[in-house]
Amino acid sequence: MATHRLLVDVHTHVYLPRYASFLRSRTSAPRIFSRQTTASNGSVTSEERLLILDNEPSGGRPVGPQYWDREEKLKFMDKHGIDVSIVSSANPWLDFLPAPTAHKLAEELNEDLESFCSTSPTLAQLQFKRLYGFGLLPLVPSASTSSLLSTIDQINKLPHLKGIIMGTKGVGKGLDDEALEPVWEALAKTGLVVFLHPHYGVDGSAWGEKENGHVLPLALGFPFETTTAITRLILSGVFDRHPALRILLAHSGGTLPLLSSRLASCIAHDPIVASRLKHDARHYLGDLYFDAVAYGSEELGFVSDTIGRAASFEGTQRGSQSLGLEAKRKIGSGRMLFGTDHPFFPPLSESEKWMSVVENLEAIERVDGWTDVEKDAVRGGNAVQLFGLS
Ligand code: URA
Ligand code: ZN
Repeated sequence: MATHRLLVDVHTHVYLPRYASFLRSRTSAPRIFSRQTTASNGSVTSEERLLILDNEPSGGRPVGPQYWDREEKLKFMDKHGIDVSIVSSANPWLDFLPAPTAHKLAEELNEDLESFCSTSPTLAQLQFKRLYGFGLLPLVPSASTSSLLSTIDQINKLPHLKGIIMGTKGVGKGLDDEALEPVWEALAKTGLVVFLHPHYGVDGSAWGEKENGHVLPLALGFPFETTTAITRLILSGVFDRHPALRILLAHSGGTLPLLSSRLASCIAHDPIVASRLKHDARHYLGDLYFDAVAYGSEELGFVSDTIGRAASFEGTQRGSQSLGLEAKRKIGSGRMLFGTDHPFFPPLSESEKWMSVVENLEAIERVDGWTDVEKDAVRGGNAVQLFGLS
């Protein structure tokens, strides 16, 4: 099997057994708790539910082995033809813990994830495993720089961990906090891929009073949170100082691609902010990686166009180079990677294929203007390269 034809899932989560047990021991969110339900015939069944936010509607969501059992992950992969998964812990990671607990648990979970991956099956005919992982840093308020750096060092030495997953809070003040400068420096040096993923959404008062379940926070709040976090990071000049940083944005970068010209215009009207940056804001999209978890081919095409356009902004001005649509799509698709968000968004019946997989694969297949080579790259070739799998 050629590596450029692999299907690699870069957005797929797990609550490792140690983390799930820890959540079961808690009495406030985030927690896993058991709930008994009585059917109309009087039989009582117990189900586990996951509550990750205090104000989550309807007592959280049902959870089961899909969330922690490696065999379930492999079964899901087999069912959908996924060859390799780069597995990450699911939100809210360690965000809610005191610094010493977060540090200890991060290092234990990183070891757990290493063995979760290193003992996974080897892919037939190739030298690599079916599972690799993103580790965790103890990114919590009052985390010491030395604890963050020592965990980066730990992850860098674990051969099956290829990056870290990170939320948007940093050590309490967001990702543009000067306290994180040594962290970005170390991450750029190691080449570990930073998977930036939302958890908090945006202020819930924006959602009004109607009962819309998880729809608004997940469909809009999550991507807005990612958009704000990455925009603040761009404005802080991190990419000028650490061009080697490799950041992968969840959910195709939220709304950053759509808003990047507006962002550039707002910066141009603010000389203080403008003077901090070496480039037009649109340039930085070309430094980033985007998962292809957008569920629609038009959106994927649009994201690849805006990433590809980044090459036209060499400095703070639009360069004379004006790339054609084909060239932009080629550059942009080279930075996009298939993902599923498993085990979230499960189908309603066990036997069905998962909509999140089917729709995201169909979206890739149908992007106007992506060649078969580019589609293969998004499905797996880009991931093989980015994570150095071959
Ligand atoms: N819901 C979550 O809480 N996390 C995800 O990654 C996706 C859906
Ligand atoms: Zn996710």
